[in-house]
Amino acid sequence: MATGPDGQDDTQSIDLKLAKAAAEELRNEPMAGWLTVPVDRAEIAKIKEAAAAINENSEYLVCIGIGGSYLGHKAIIDALMPKSQTKILYAGNSLSSYSLQKVLEEIEGKDFSINVISKSGTTLEPSLAFNILKQKLKERYKYEDRVSSRIYATTDARFGALHEEAVDNHYHTFVVPDNIGGRYSVLTAVGLLPLAVAGVNIEAILDGARKEKIEIHENLAKSSNAPAELAPLTYATLRQKYHGMYHDVEVLATFEPELQTFEEWWKQLFGESEGKGGKGIFPASVVYTTDLHSLGQYLQQGRRNIMETFLKIESLYTRTSNLSTQEKAELSQLRDYNAVAYQATVAAHRSGGIPVFEISIPDISAESLGRLIYFYELACAVSAKLQGANPFDQPGVEAYKQNMKNMLQ
Ligand code: PA5
Repeated sequence: MATGPDGQDDTQSIDLKLAKAAAEELRNEPMAGWLTVPVDRAEIAKIKEAAAAINENSEYLVCIGIGGSYLGHKAIIDALMPKSQTKILYAGNSLSSYSLQKVLEEIEGKDFSINVISKSGTTLEPSLAFNILKQKLKERYKYEDRVSSRIYATTDARFGALHEEAVDNHYHTFVVPDNIGGRYSVLTAVGLLPLAVAGVNIEAILDGARKEKIEIHENLAKSSNAPAELAPLTYATLRQKYHGMYHDVEVLATFEPELQTFEEWWKQLFGESEGKGGKGIFPASVVYTTDLHSLGQYLQQGRRNIMETFLKIESLYTRTSNLSTQEKAELSQLRDYNAVAYQATVAAHRSGGIPVFEISIPDISAESLGRLIYFYELACAVSAKLQGANPFDQPGVEAYKQNMKNMLQ
């Protein structure tokens, strides 16, 4: 999946020994539960059953959560644009009253359910939004059991305020496994329930992730050293190599605006996993060709501390069938222009002295996104380990929370 920077394939010259050792170590990490893509058939059936009930009785599902509790599923939904009778709305990912007002106005007088997602069950942003939206459910559905039947809580199996409230009030519950942290949790109920409600084929997502998992683990088991066969480790090694050469920013570039939220998910994954101990590669993102008319200038001629990864989509289909033949032909031509813009930009940035990586997926489909998610989760955990960081904690996030607590007191 990864090819070399500066136009040359320097994947051949790197040593994957440390990355392989880091990948091996991960197997024994208490927070690397995501490595095995552990969702079982019973959990999938439960998720599908809940999704069917929500589709049946709700025009809207409001997903409440922040960070790893919402970015992954929003990324996939935005990328795939699935069709479903239930529209997904988001709340509790900021403290903006302006945003929450929009959600409250949209669901006014409509049938809706809530999926509140918080592993700790104590995060401020989702807790506040949940209180307000619960009130809205109470106003509309009056009776306690009718209200509770519209609340789906995805949280820890045993601990936390949300877990206790869910048990006391008989909400539907889904579990965030003990051994999977927020930003690695999209392929658990955290992501799968909203995705199923939105009409995404969750089995295809999981299939993609499992194919990626099997490939990489088989290649590790046969002691492969081929960069292409160990692509996540190759990518992790290359970015640390260039980091060591004063490239402390990595820009993820896509030519598809619908992948912008995917870039946000990637930023959170890498930012929270690597940015600690005074170290880390700052994860940034651009959407081209839009940003060629803004940040493109900086990329081409600004400070040379940036490496850039292009997310390449091998082939794009025209999704909608109700378009005229003429429109389809025009879209196809636009696709060709976008592909040329891609090549032109890669060449320009390479000639501008930026180390460029390319990661390609065959298409924007559930299976390809599942693969890409697993690819990045593994690459990220390995990359953090190569840097000497714990990929699974985020101690720095506490600083603002503590300040806020003090200020509110
Ligand atoms: O990756 C992480 O662990 C964080 O980004 C969390 O997902 C985020 O802080 C939300 O936490 P919680 O699910 O406990 O509300």
